[in-house]
Amino acid sequence: MSDQALIPRRPWNGRHVVLGVTGGIAAYKSVQLARDLTRLGAVVDAVLTASAQKFVAPMSFQGVTGRPALTDLFSPEGGALHIRLGREADVICVAPATADFLARAAHGRADDLICTTLLATRAPVLVCPAMNDRMFAHPQVQANLAHLRDRLRYRIVGPAEGALAVGEGEGPGRMLDPWRIEEHIGRALGEEQPFAGRSVLVTAGPTREALDPVRYLGNRSSGRMGYALAQAAWRRGAKVSLISGPSHLNSPEGVDLVRVETAVEMHDAVSALIPSADVTVFAAAVADFRAAEGRDQKMKRGTEGPEVSISLTANPDIASETRGQRKPGSVAVGFALETEDVLEHAAKKLHAKGFDLLVANDALESGAGFEVPTNRVTLLSADSAPEELPLLTKEEVAEEVLDRVAARLTTSA
Ligand code: C5P
Repeated sequence: MSDQALIPRRPWNGRHVVLGVTGGIAAYKSVQLARDLTRLGAVVDAVLTASAQKFVAPMSFQGVTGRPALTDLFSPEGGALHIRLGREADVICVAPATADFLARAAHGRADDLICTTLLATRAPVLVCPAMNDRMFAHPQVQANLAHLRDRLRYRIVGPAEGALAVGEGEGPGRMLDPWRIEEHIGRALGEEQPFAGRSVLVTAGPTREALDPVRYLGNRSSGRMGYALAQAAWRRGAKVSLISGPSHLNSPEGVDLVRVETAVEMHDAVSALIPSADVTVFAAAVADFRAAEGRDQKMKRGTEGPEVSISLTANPDIASETRGQRKPGSVAVGFALETEDVLEHAAKKLHAKGFDLLVANDALESGAGFEVPTNRVTLLSADSAPEELPLLTKEEVAEEVLDRVAARLTTSA
């Protein structure tokens, strides 16, 4: 998660996370996880097993969470510590989860603080396995995982493939990066109606229109607003497809990412998915024009002369052209980035493109628009007065937009 995104915000803010840490080398990443969750506003109680303390010190967790790290089932707090933790937890996440922990948890053992807490909770439980790839593939480890997933309804998060500890393999076994685990914790905390199980389609980023084999027409869109919307909709429990032009951002966790380059490719991808979408958000900054003729050779200074003219042809307006394919009762959200008379132009777009909601902002205002992590937007709809929001991060804007979408989905469902 980017540094700007690490502010107290939904759905982590004010929620109680019990973070179990067991004895694997990936435990060093859990300090980052505890720190990020705390910065997102969560109250984090780190619970370390004896073997976790061979890899990381309780003091490290204490330093980043501002709370005592817990290590002892028989602590001075008395035998009720696991009961209190189990009751207060909004979510329990065990990261890393070793093979030994998986075996003990699958058998309902109560021989340390984290396993005992698991028996005493009704909160959702996430388990993030991390171990050598041959150990992970062992049939008994797989059987324990299947039991935790199918019988106890624990959410198994990861592992990923990639380099393991020195001298080990490269198969599945690596703990997911902390930001991905943070998103899974966010989903466990944030799943709610009317998004749970609904299909959400988001377009994001710029498009690239080739001028010759090496040059293109593009724009300054980073994709951040659309990516934030896709990730937030997934956290609320939706099935999300993100159709993105070229962007340097990480693929959002849990989201089905469809990469495209040109407006025509984006149009085709939207056209294939929009009939089944309950919500469509058009956050992409689509190039209005593309080169009328393709060139298969690079334009050169010597052969082109001092002036070059490129003739352009209009791209499809994706939102308008796919309007007739929208699912009945679905909600369509558009964006309008303007440089003058923002509300007037935005209101025209709302009607012309048949949006239910339009998110308008002024590209010239500082802290709004392209290439910045924040946005100052006004929300427009056909049936209510424009609503001006304060300067917010794009992640916060995404939550505000989804709240308005939720109200419409509930009434149209
Ligand atoms: O570019 P314009 O300001 O008209 O874009 C308004 C809305 O229409 C945005 O939501 C944008 O994603 C969408 N759009 C589109 N296809 C285009 C241009 C814009 O879907 N070719």
